[in-house]
Amino acid sequence: MKWSPLSLMPLVLAIESSCDETAVAILSGDRQQRTRILASEISSQIPLHQPHGGVVPELASRNHSLNLRPLIEQALRRAQVSIDQIDAFAATAGPGLSSSLLIGNTTAKALAAATRKPFLAINHLEGHLLSPFLLETCIPEHIALIISGGHTLLIKVRAAGDYTKLGSTRDDAAGEAFDKVAKMLGLPYPGGPNIEATAIDGDPLKYAFPRGLMHEAHLDFSFSGLKTSVLYSLPKIENLATSLNDLCASFQAAVIDVLLHKSLRALKQESMNHLALSGGVSLNQSLRKKFQTACDAAGITLSLSPPDLCTDNAAMIAFAGLIRHLQGKFDPLDSPIHPNLSLFH
Ligand code: KG4
Ligand code: ZN
Repeated sequence: MKWSPLSLMPLVLAIESSCDETAVAILSGDRQQRTRILASEISSQIPLHQPHGGVVPELASRNHSLNLRPLIEQALRRAQVSIDQIDAFAATAGPGLSSSLLIGNTTAKALAAATRKPFLAINHLEGHLLSPFLLETCIPEHIALIISGGHTLLIKVRAAGDYTKLGSTRDDAAGEAFDKVAKMLGLPYPGGPNIEATAIDGDPLKYAFPRGLMHEAHLDFSFSGLKTSVLYSLPKIENLATSLNDLCASFQAAVIDVLLHKSLRALKQESMNHLALSGGVSLNQSLRKKFQTACDAAGITLSLSPPDLCTDNAAMIAFAGLIRHLQGKFDPLDSPIHPNLSLFH
């Protein structure tokens, strides 16, 4: 799908509040028919949840309601636009924590009602899925791998809005495995970046952790066996502190191997030659390098989200909203949130 020219490019303000990040973004297009991020503000709650080792829903929703208004004002200031100039208001409708989704959703609806502009209810996963193409001029046919804290999904994308599920996790999501293994090893939340940092000078071949379901013909994933294997290896290690880097590197390599293997299998199965990665785990440098090397060798185009669009942000929600706006697909103000919203109909 090609974007429309600037004259038809609406200005979309989007709110993301599905989990622990409060985020507001304003998006538009420029004369090259590219999307332009006028503002992308994030108020991270990581320090707030860190002492609890994970996200506490009540703390998250309370802080969304405290942070949202100043963040919207900050976004408008940064974009140098007034609220009346916004053409549509988008918010994440799911999947996510219901008490968190409600804050952003209700605020976007209130702004839409007050300014008599349309409202767009956006699927958080569609935001991730489209994010590698936010600065491009079209959404090509491709295989999408979404790897976040809550999801691991392989999807065949024919066009924006036309998605077929090829595979998903049968237990933990890839990011969840990073977070749980980090907790086991005494590393702080969120686990992914801390495991990556610890793994830097580690030996990925030191521990032969299992690659769950890797050689099975289907495209589903399983990370619970890997997690248990890390747990069972701990009592056998004499000095955990000096082995931490090798443990992290070996665990990380096992996750990457499975993700890469299944992605290449999906491309082959669907006779496609374009792969796109999104979600927080796709920030991992070792993963990006291994995917790039494998794709280069196989003649596959690899699209990666810019680092600041990998983890939760509102620019990806605004982008999905912009596409829906151009398609004229709006949502009523009484549309509900869906904590378990699916991408597939
Ligand atoms: O996409 P995201 O921000 O939120 C969800 O929609 O879940 O993903 C968060 C997940 C967390 O599990 C976090 O540990 C993981 O992404 N993550 C990483 C890295 N940075 C964040 N995993 C591996 N390596 C990283 N550098
Ligand atoms: Zn996310």
